Amino acid sequence: MTKGVPMEFLDLVRSKNDLVDVASRYLTLTHRGGNYWACCPFHNEKTASFSIKPDGQFYKCFGCGEAGNVINFVAKMENIDFMSAVEMLAKNAGLEMPSSEQNEEMRKRKQQRDRLFQILKLTTEFYANNLLNNPNSPQAEYIKSRKLNEETIKKFQLGVSLNYDDLPKFLLKNNFKEEDLLAAGVVGKNEHGLYDFYGKRVIFPLCNGFGDVVGFSARTIEQSPEHTKYKNTPQTPIFNKSEILFAYNFARELKKQHLLDSLVIVEGHIDVITCHQAGITNTIGCMGTALTQQHARKIKQLVDNVIICLDGDSAGSNATYKAIDVLKNEGLRVKVVRLTGAKDPDEFIKVYGKEKFLNFLENAIDCVDFILQDSAKKYDLTSNADKTKYVSEALNYISKFSTIAEQEIYLSELQQLVKIPIDALRKSLTNQTNKTTAIKPELEQPSENVKNKYILDSKIMFLAAILHKKVKNFEQIVGFFEGNDELSELYKFLMEKIGNNKDFNISTLFDNFDIAPNSLIDKVINYNFPPDEVFNTMLKDTIKRVKIYELQQQKEDLINKMNNSTDINERYDCLNKLKELDEKIKKEKM
Ligand code: CTP
Ligand code: MN
Repeated sequence: MTKGVPMEFLDLVRSKNDLVDVASRYLTLTHRGGNYWACCPFHNEKTASFSIKPDGQFYKCFGCGEAGNVINFVAKMENIDFMSAVEMLAKNAGLEMPSSEQNEEMRKRKQQRDRLFQILKLTTEFYANNLLNNPNSPQAEYIKSRKLNEETIKKFQLGVSLNYDDLPKFLLKNNFKEEDLLAAGVVGKNEHGLYDFYGKRVIFPLCNGFGDVVGFSARTIEQSPEHTKYKNTPQTPIFNKSEILFAYNFARELKKQHLLDSLVIVEGHIDVITCHQAGITNTIGCMGTALTQQHARKIKQLVDNVIICLDGDSAGSNATYKAIDVLKNEGLRVKVVRLTGAKDPDEFIKVYGKEKFLNFLENAIDCVDFILQDSAKKYDLTSNADKTKYVSEALNYISKFSTIAEQEIYLSELQQLVKIPIDALRKSLTNQTNKTTAIKPELEQPSENVKNKYILDSKIMFLAAILHKKVKNFEQIVGFFEGNDELSELYKFLMEKIGNNKDFNISTLFDNFDIAPNSLIDKVINYNFPPDEVFNTMLKDTIKRVKIYELQQQKEDLINKMNNSTDINERYDCLNKLKELDEKIKKEKM
């Protein structure tokens, strides 16, 4: 069973609805090179990068990364949920929907979500009216003190809560049930009954990408530390903090109008709002939390370029490193601004003005440059020991975050900083990236990251080979996919299909996995195969290398065991095993 209907039924619906057929009702398709092409309906473009593979029955946009099968396509085009799309396609093919309990469950959940959306909409209006009708309340005074004008207040639907009782009364009067109010995260309950969860605070509504309010951040106006500065909506059926970005809905609007080519990421609500008020409308907020991969994916759906401009404190500095990692991982070009003279963008703009802020943004530096310069501050580069540590750290970042072409630029910058000949740096970098040769003793072991990335890339390659039927013998990669991660799940899924001799179609995957653009599974599906001879050599080489990594890992474990052991027999035993391992490694390398 998937998403409330039996898998077989989904198969049937898909087999009776040809994707090319269905899509051609919405788009003008051109047949070229075995695929069908059109301008992408999910983002604005002038040249066709939306493609349909008729044999795989799935689509993929090379511009925005959207991908899916015929059900996902209809859901997106009609702006309806998965089940409604199944229903529509079933009807289209003259099929009766199965009536199952799960179906009922789905419908109930959808209805509840709809009610929660309504509650949030009404609550937003309630708070906004409070602000309008009580301009002298301390909460309204606070908004004034932050110099937010009427237009801004309206755009961000800002509001205030004046007490703890009015909101629940108002919502109950509007015939909402207590359980829904609690589920929406707008009220809490104690021994006296329901109370406004954001009582007496200034209200910042949080929207999903479509501009529907799904939650709130509520700022206290009290100075005392016993008041939490912000109270945020907890996880609800429609609110998930790890995928919401403040003002993302406005960025999406700009994108639709072709007015967006980069995004500025700031920390606080007021930072975002002040930037927008100053006309810098490509600003979004991470709301003080570390950016997640989901956030980065959402950003990548809109732009290729981002500027990180977090608070000037040390928390902001740490968050910047993390954000770079997450955003680069998603393939974004990342620049960094570190503000000086003010704690955050809001204060900066208010003290120095918009022009100076724009100036900082224009002079944002490339993220690797930022790291090279910033991490150098931790070390005394006149000391050799420190220098070695710094070089190792710097090379690690360079190999992780840059293309081959960029590497040369960064290496020459690093050379300026540490005054080590560039050839030596280049060589260390190659060692760090290749990882097969022994590492020079004066440098630290290269990062786990490089190795992990290689293994991850290899796994994607193996799975792509299986999925696209490039290999028949999988014995060599047994033991690779024993985890609970999504790639292991995919492996198990494929093996089950193959083991049962079931022929499967790639489009089946979209029903069994949540396949976001640029997710690992998406990479497997859209794997770019080189010509067969090349691929076969690559495959052999990769299997070999991964084996060597495994053996090296065993070797490391053994060395650790040996070093920790005081038993002479055990140490001797380890030594023997080490020799064996070395032999094996040597053999593999041949
Ligand atoms: N934040 C939060 N909970 C807190 C503190 C902060 O969720 N207890 C989030 C909020 O989204 C906030 C952001 O982190 O906007 C940045 O925090 P901070 O700089 O402390 O708040 P500002 O909104 O910038 O407030 P101010 O300008 O008044 O200091
Ligand atoms: Mn701040």
